[in-house]
Order: sequence, then structure tokens, then C-alpha cells
Amino acid sequence: MIRVLFAAGEARWQTYRPSLTAAFDEAGLEVDIFTQTDAPETVDYIVYAPGDTLDDFTPFTNAKAVLSLWAGVEKIVGNETLTQPLCRMVDAGLEEGMVEWVTGHVLRHHLGMDAQIVNPDHEWNPVIPPLARNRKVTVLGLGELGRACAQALAALRFDVAGWSRTQKDIPGLTCLSGEDGLRKALSRAEIVVVLLPLTPQTENLLNAERLARLPEGAVIINPGRGPLIDDDALIAALDSGHVAHATLDVFRQEPLPQGHPFWAHPRVTVTPHIASETRADTASEVIAENIRRGEAGAPFLFRVDRQQGY
Ligand SMILES: NC(=O)c1ccc[n+]([C@@H]2O[C@H](COP(=O)([O-])OP(=O)(O)OC[C@H]3O[C@@H](n4cnc5c(N)ncnc54)[C@H](OP(=O)(O)O)[C@@H]3O)[C@@H](O)[C@H]2O)c1
Repeated sequence: MIRVLFAAGEARWQTYRPSLTAAFDEAGLEVDIFTQTDAPETVDYIVYAPGDTLDDFTPFTNAKAVLSLWAGVEKIVGNETLTQPLCRMVDAGLEEGMVEWVTGHVLRHHLGMDAQIVNPDHEWNPVIPPLARNRKVTVLGLGELGRACAQALAALRFDVAGWSRTQKDIPGLTCLSGEDGLRKALSRAEIVVVLLPLTPQTENLLNAERLARLPEGAVIINPGRGPLIDDDALIAALDSGHVAHATLDVFRQEPLPQGHPFWAHPRVTVTPHIASETRADTASEVIAENIRRGEAGAPFLFRVDRQQGY
């Protein structure tokens, strides 16, 4: 019997219990899964999400892996008590959700929808938006989510560039890397989508100097992580109009505190970290597959590179 500790919070337990049980059955795994244990040394795998009380992994001396339900692992990757392999979540539901959210928000700004949705004086003002092929979009981060979003936008004929740490070659996209690549990526970006992980290298990546490289009137869409952008520099760029709008899904502090300037800023749209949620049914299949691999001695999927921090 494989012993799995579900350390991802009580609310998620209600949702995940049936789908994990079904996924284990489907994978032919005999699993005992529980949310509390007095015998941590007998636990084989830990299913983890931030917000649970678990932060000391030392007692789990025989655990073979920690399986995160979140794609972003910045809250656990630096935990020094964690010596077991750490796997992050990559799943079809997460990817589809992010593609839908990013595409929707890009189209909002591209088409200038706000002017029609909020038109209190009933003005007949026929502003024709350009075709997508004449709109330059940059996606920062070409991983599982950034790449899927960039390809979906390219399929709509947007002129898409993507930037990543290592150089990529993806048909239909202009792929950039390195500091020089970032300069090019930003200076062309009428709309920039931020889908980087939060690491010491990416924190405050969009600071005042880099925001100034964006063309006048650029739009920022950030479903990545709040600290990727310097808040004060962003507010200054919004106040001056250099950045026309920021659609922000993630923040340094969540929930975004009442009274935070983002809430009331006329050029900011706040969404409450809903860009893409891990879906229990598809995520459970990924967890089951990784446990199956662990038991078969095969390499884990989506293993986090602890050195790189993602
Ligand atoms: N708002 C939400 O609901 C939500 C939901 C899920 C995820 N997220 C966020 O989305 C992030 C991205 O997820 P993912 O699954 O796409 O991650 P991923 O597959 O690990 O991809 C990360 C991408 O960022 C690039 N990158 C990392 N460090 C970099 C650096 N220093 N300079 C330039 N590029 C760098 C990577 O480059 P290489 O390709 O060269 O490695 C890769 O292309 C997550 O970390 C999380 O923060 C948000």
C-alpha cells in the first residue's frame, strides 16, 4: 500500500479526494491517502499546496517526492528542510485556463472593448482596431504556459515574440533570450504578457528602467507573479500614461489589501488570482502518473530544478 499525505488544505481535500481516488484506481495504484499522520516516516509521497501548515519536511525521512498542485513553486523551492525531489504542476486544465484568460485580456485591449462597454454619453465613435497581424505582443516566459499562450495568440495572427532564459526555436514566434533579447522584446511590445516564474533572477524584472523601454501606451498583462513587477515603478508609469493599462492577476500580498493603490487606479484591472486554477480532475491524473513513475523507478515528470528555482 502506497501512503500519501495530502498537505494542500482542507478545502482542496474535499475537491481532490474523489478525483485522486479515481485517478489512483485508473492507474492501478493501491493508495492510502490522508491529511494527518502520526507516522511521518511511513509517508511515501506528499501532495502539497502553499497555505497548508506543513513547512518542515524533515520528519518525512522516506518520502520519495513532494508533488505540488501549483505550477509556481516559489513558496517551497527554497525550503531547506526539503531534500526530496520536488515536482510542480503541469496539467492540461491549467494550460487551457491560462490560454483562455490571456487571450481574453489581450483581445480586450487589442479591440479597445472598454470604450464600447463603458460609454455613458452614448457616443458614436467608430475607432477601427488594427488587425491582430499588425499588433505586436510579447510574452515573457516561454515555458508550459507562456508558450501555449504565445502560440494561441500567434494562431489569431498576432505578431508574437517570446522571451525565455534559454534560447528557443518555436515556429510562428520570434524567440528571444538574454538581456539584449529582453530589450528587443520590451521595445516592440504593444501588449506584454508576463508568464515568468518568481525566482531571485526574475524578482522586480519589470523595474522603472525596463518599463521605460516599452513603447508609449503599452499594456501589461501579468498572470505570472506580483513581485515580477516593481509596484511603485508600475504606478509611476501608469500615472504618466507611459503604460496605458495593467491587468494584474497576482500581487505581492494576496488578497490584495483594501486601500492598495491598484484597486482604485483607473488604469489598473485587478483580477483575484483566477487566471488559471489547477483543475482537480486533470491534476489528479498527473499526480497519479508521477506516483506510478516513482514506484516503477522511472524519472518524475515536471521535476523542479532547485538551482534555477523553477
Ligand atoms: N495566475 C495564475 O493563476 C497562475 C497559474 C499558474 C501559473 N502561474 C504562474 O505562471 C508561471 C509560469 O508557469 P509555467 O508552467 O509556464 O512555468 P515554466 O514552464 O517553468 O516556464 C517558465 C518560463 O520562464 C522562463 N524563465 C525563467 N527564469 C527566467 C529568467 N531569469 N530569464 C528569462 N526567462 C526565464 C523559462 O525559461 P526556459 O524555458 O529557458 O527555462 C521558461 O520559459 C508560474 O511560475 C506561476 O508563477 C500563474
